[in-house]
Amino acid sequence: MKPLVVGNGAREHALAWKLSRSNRISGLYVAPGNAGTATLGENLESLSAEDVEAIVRTAVDKGVDMVFVGPEGPLALGLVDALTESGVPAIGPPAEASRLEASKAESKRFMDAYRIPTAAHRTFDDPDQLETYVRNAGRRLVVKKSGLAAGKGVIESEDTDLLVSAGRAFIEEGDSVVVETHLDGYEISLFGISDGRDYVLLPPCTDYKKAGVGGTGPNTGGMGAICPVPWLAPKELDLIISTIVEPTYRGLRDAGLAYRGVLYFGIMVTEDGPMLLEYNVRFGDPETQVVLPLLESDFGNLCDAVLHNAVGEFPVRLSTASALGVVIAAPGYPSDYPSGLVVSPLPQPPDNEALVFHAATTISADGTITTGGGRCFTAVGLGEELLTARTNAYTTAKTICFPGSWFRPDIGGRLFG
Ligand code: AMP
Ligand code: GLY
Repeated sequence: MKPLVVGNGAREHALAWKLSRSNRISGLYVAPGNAGTATLGENLESLSAEDVEAIVRTAVDKGVDMVFVGPEGPLALGLVDALTESGVPAIGPPAEASRLEASKAESKRFMDAYRIPTAAHRTFDDPDQLETYVRNAGRRLVVKKSGLAAGKGVIESEDTDLLVSAGRAFIEEGDSVVVETHLDGYEISLFGISDGRDYVLLPPCTDYKKAGVGGTGPNTGGMGAICPVPWLAPKELDLIISTIVEPTYRGLRDAGLAYRGVLYFGIMVTEDGPMLLEYNVRFGDPETQVVLPLLESDFGNLCDAVLHNAVGEFPVRLSTASALGVVIAAPGYPSDYPSGLVVSPLPQPPDNEALVFHAATTISADGTITTGGGRCFTAVGLGEELLTARTNAYTTAKTICFPGSWFRPDIGGRLFG
């Protein structure tokens, strides 16, 4: 199998790394890739992940026999539909099913139709109606832009004026706004992989979304993650599966949405049981970096099972270890940040102890690595105990240096989302 991974983040580096260890793989392309994926296969640097036409043309020209789409943008643009039309097998949902992520208004309709527990919510297209509702609700609310927003579309503030002004701004930009009850609890990210009929689940993980220590400060794409989650009781996971996962896959089948790919369940475990916050139609970042190292089954075989409707028979073998990922970010992230920062020589820990995944880095002819994004690396520590994984992750994170580099020092702490 000669796969092409689409994207340039640490999630795609982890995907490429996992695929590169598969017995089935005879070559590997990453479009556009980063300095980390360049060591695993061929980067197709000139290809943008969102240039659907160019990716399809290249996949056909190079005889790629499986495309794994990392980010949501190309899925919403119809990359999988276009690949399928050209006869290139692809892992990722078609654009219609990508609406589960690309439209929070539609995903809420889906949750309601299949009685999937979620926060009480209403969708608005009129700013005055939104304002009246938010000012008279009498309880804490969250305001969400319906469309894709790269982590910037959810306003969780207790300040009603801020909720109103953000909601109005989203509507004025031409989007709908979902307003929902604020939920208290802890978050779980769960990934299902399906072939359109059957699915398998990967072990639950959690990411740390806020920039600051103790879950303070602005939201980010995720500053760290752990897998599995020691405080998620097995009976709570069973409840998540029976009330959220099962009805979702049943709903997808009923709705005729052939879903061949990864579905991400963003869940809040509350005192009233688990509630679904959102679907994403792809793997999470940084969750992928901690989930994939714990999968012992051949990932190429799993992808092949997805493409050949054989997920129901696929034996998922998992490591008993834990993984903890720490994101090393650029100065200023999640606000404005510089790129092109020169990275000091990177650590090379033994890969049963720690892994280093790059995001949007580039490498020059003389081997100098420079940053290109806000979240620049994920250092993943592994260990039989979460504490060992944590030590291994931080030992590695501390030696990933570039001007102004920083990371959260408290990944692995409980409830510090
Ligand atoms: P979403 O894109 O809907 O997952 O929201 C992004 C993040 O905002 C979530 O991961 C939560 O941390 C937070 N969030 C979203 N909805 C709620 C809610 N109803 N109550 C509390 N926090 C929320
Ligand atoms: N870590 C959250 C996401 O990938 O959306």
